[in-house]
Amino acid sequence: MLRRLYQDQPETFAFTPDNQKWAEAQMKKFPEGRQASAIIPILWRAQEQEGWLSRPAIEYVAAMLDLAYIRALEVASFYFMFQLQPVGSIAHIQVCGTLSCMICGAEDLIGVCKDKISDKPHALSADGKFSWEEVECLGSCANAPMAQIGKDYYEDLTAERLGEIIDELAAGRVPTPGPQNGRFAAEPLKGLTSLKGYDSGKTKYNASAQLATDIGDTIKRIDGTEVPLLTPWVKDAKAAPSPKAKATTPKPKPVKSTPVKAAPKAAAPVAEKQPETLSAPRDGGADDLKKISGVGPKLESVLNDLGFWHFDQIAKWTMDEIAWVDSRLKFKGRIERDNWMAQAADLAKGK
Ligand code: FES
Repeated sequence: MLRRLYQDQPETFAFTPDNQKWAEAQMKKFPEGRQASAIIPILWRAQEQEGWLSRPAIEYVAAMLDLAYIRALEVASFYFMFQLQPVGSIAHIQVCGTLSCMICGAEDLIGVCKDKISDKPHALSADGKFSWEEVECLGSCANAPMAQIGKDYYEDLTAERLGEIIDELAAGRVPTPGPQNGRFAAEPLKGLTSLKGYDSGKTKYNASAQLATDIGDTIKRIDGTEVPLLTPWVKDAKAAPSPKAKATTPKPKPVKSTPVKAAPKAAAPVAEKQPETLSAPRDGGADDLKKISGVGPKLESVLNDLGFWHFDQIAKWTMDEIAWVDSRLKFKGRIERDNWMAQAADLAKGK
């Protein structure tokens, strides 16, 4: 399926203050220089806030992570969990149309979406409240046919039940996710044939449906105020583990030993030397430093502030000069990891 940016884009995007805090906390989960690893949860939070990912939202996230915009767009356009066009104000319904669901009635579910929402996928219903699309297997094949609505799965669906669910959502209610035919989870419809002694009765619904019901944000837009930030790693590390947790999890050490690469750096500091800098770009104008893989808009502006405007300047950096620049960048180690010098040398030659 062709996934492109929507033709009508808002002018700007900004996280709400709470979502901003949450997003910044995601970046702290990763070692310095690896903040880009937070891209999926942060894009997801942007979508939770707005319902879909606009171009300004994708660029905002890219700038936060100091990524070239195209890198963030690649992620947003690859996964169909990310919506690149406006969705219904109440819910976007993703009907699984892959094998198990198809032979169990997915076409009937799509028929309901066409009748109740819109003839075409990715189009809003007349009242703007719903949209739908057909997606590939969502991994719930034993409960086919199924659909993801908002964040949760509605399984063992019939056309009639999906119609009711849409009506309930339209009326402001959120039906309980999970199997819709009385099954607890994915056990045989006529009852268990094995593991009969298994006691699943501690919760009313299976774990996923119970959590969805407890959290209650299946189709909610998230502005960060309704859920606790849930970012314990940002607090003082000593506050998190209780004595009991220490006793049952004897190996917090591997976590500490993971950043092995950091140790040699601290042990052997490299001498710094300031490279030759310019107070402004030369006559021909500044080079587009974002062409260097690893340099996003934010890093480019930092480099410009430091006096680097051209590929040939970067191509000439020596190790002690790299150390000087490195110590002034927010994400140390990036220059060598992405080999900016070789990239800049190629770019300076017009490659
Ligand atoms: S085929 Fe529909 S969830 Fe796998």
